[in-house]
Amino acid sequence: MDVLVVGASPRPGGNTDLVCEYLTKRFSELGLNPVTVMLRSFRIQPCRGCRECLRKEFCIIEDDMRILVDYLLRTKAIVIATPVYFNSVPSILKAFIDRTWCLRGRLRNKVGGVVAIGRRYGHEQAVNTVISFFLKHEMIVGFRGVCLYAFESGEVLNDVEGMRDLEKLARRIHELLKILELGTSRASEVS
Ligand SMILES: Cc1cc2nc3c(=O)[nH]c(=O)nc-3n(C[C@H](O)[C@H](O)[C@H](O)COP(=O)(O)O)c2cc1C
Repeated sequence: MDVLVVGASPRPGGNTDLVCEYLTKRFSELGLNPVTVMLRSFRIQPCRGCRECLRKEFCIIEDDMRILVDYLLRTKAIVIATPVYFNSVPSILKAFIDRTWCLRGRLRNKVGGVVAIGRRYGHEQAVNTVISFFLKHEMIVGFRGVCLYAFESGEVLNDVEGMRDLEKLARRIHELLKILELGTSRASEVS
């Protein structure tokens, strides 16, 4: 797996799903191996702050986050597409982010990308939440947060400039993965 595309909308068939479809298709066309997950399909309980993961390095809550953690550890890049809810991200994405505390240090140097889809306000705050998540994990932020403007299902495709940025994000993630691949092979030549 090269890229994990994470869809964070609770609504099936909405704009976020369209963005995920677009990204998955483009990554495949660029020769990458993407896997797409919709968070709404998984049972993700909120972090309890119990701190057990500080001792055990895994989360003690038994739910579907274990499946998602496995994906996160296996992928080289993570691209999160999120709707804007109240100038921020929906609770399901925040729960997902909080539950990665147990992965401290293990997502390091993976490439991250973020797309925020909303009607009008709060994209930047949603983007910042996701970029803070990437940086906390010492990941590489691959591209500026792409902001798309849409409300009803399907409207996202009318945001021509935003869709152009989505294409740039896909290409940049592809480029960075190629550069990192080269770096890794050179590093193994030296060692
Ligand atoms: C609970 C809720 C809160 C929302 N808050 C905002 C907001 O703060 N700013 C905004 O621009 N759009 C907001 N919206 C609109 C959604 O971001 C927009 O409809 C988006 O397309 C939803 O993604 P989806 O099509 O994948 O469901 C909100 C929608 C819902 C349901």
